[in-house]
Amino acid sequence: MKKVTKAIIPAAGLGTRFLPETKAVPKEMLPIIDTPTIQYIVEEAKQSGITDLAIVIGAGKGAIEDHFSSNYMLEQNLKEKNKLDMLESVQKTNDMNIYFIRQAYPKGLGDAVLTAKTFIGRDPFVVMLGDDLMKDEVPLTQQLINSYEKSGASTLAVMRVPHEETSKYGVIDPVDKVNDEVYDVRQFVEKPSPEEAPSDLAIIGRYLFNADILDVLETTKPGKGNEVQLTDAIDTLNKTQRVFAHEFKGERFDTGNKLSWLETNIEFGLKRADISADLKDYLIDLGKKLDK
Ligand code: G1P
Repeated sequence: MKKVTKAIIPAAGLGTRFLPETKAVPKEMLPIIDTPTIQYIVEEAKQSGITDLAIVIGAGKGAIEDHFSSNYMLEQNLKEKNKLDMLESVQKTNDMNIYFIRQAYPKGLGDAVLTAKTFIGRDPFVVMLGDDLMKDEVPLTQQLINSYEKSGASTLAVMRVPHEETSKYGVIDPVDKVNDEVYDVRQFVEKPSPEEAPSDLAIIGRYLFNADILDVLETTKPGKGNEVQLTDAIDTLNKTQRVFAHEFKGERFDTGNKLSWLETNIEFGLKRADISADLKDYLIDLGKKLDK
């Protein structure tokens, strides 16, 4: 079985939820404390053994390219000033092969994945969506790779969400549990209303595919929102071969809307040695003020 070493990060979305900030700054560059959200995703990929990464971008995403290019002048300067922690922080993913692919038109997540067809060839690959940061002892992408190495089947990550939130996600209709964490799936539905949702198990932005999904995407017609939906292609693939769902039991931090982005900043801040004590004092004081 071929080792999984390739990943695609779709990053061509317009980021309208964060306007006006995202007029000139890609939403993937919004920081959690001092690190762009996409950097956390690339680090998860690296920790999971991914060596080759394609980031799918569109117009106005140049800052992502700059972020992942090594900046010699800056690195020299940090070295001379002996700021080694900072130097390490800007060099973390310099050893990965990162490619940029342009999606000509925003035609949907399925189309974004298909733009990386030549990069993928016939290899198995991971798709990582940027809005969700995942924390667990074993990185979620590594969990999917471990699962794939056992089953040989395309596998995506799901997590239980409150039933009224199913309309924000792709949702699975599970059949049986193959083991403690993995479900066999009857159907994959993109953003069903709570009345139609077949379960509370939502697709959370990490997928592992064999290359057959690309053949399916070639003929997938636009679905919800008139966009080519990855979930629709997965549902079609599932009719000719098994596609499994792996339940994630770690912590998920959503950075995709204003409130959850703010919450994620606070949660991450509370775990950061350089600011956690002061942040905690501030939150306690604020709590007292709000109680008055
Ligand atoms: C996309 C997918 C959806 C998935 C979600 C996870 O939706 O289409 O199936 O559940 O990501 O974040 P989006 O959030 O881009 O609307």
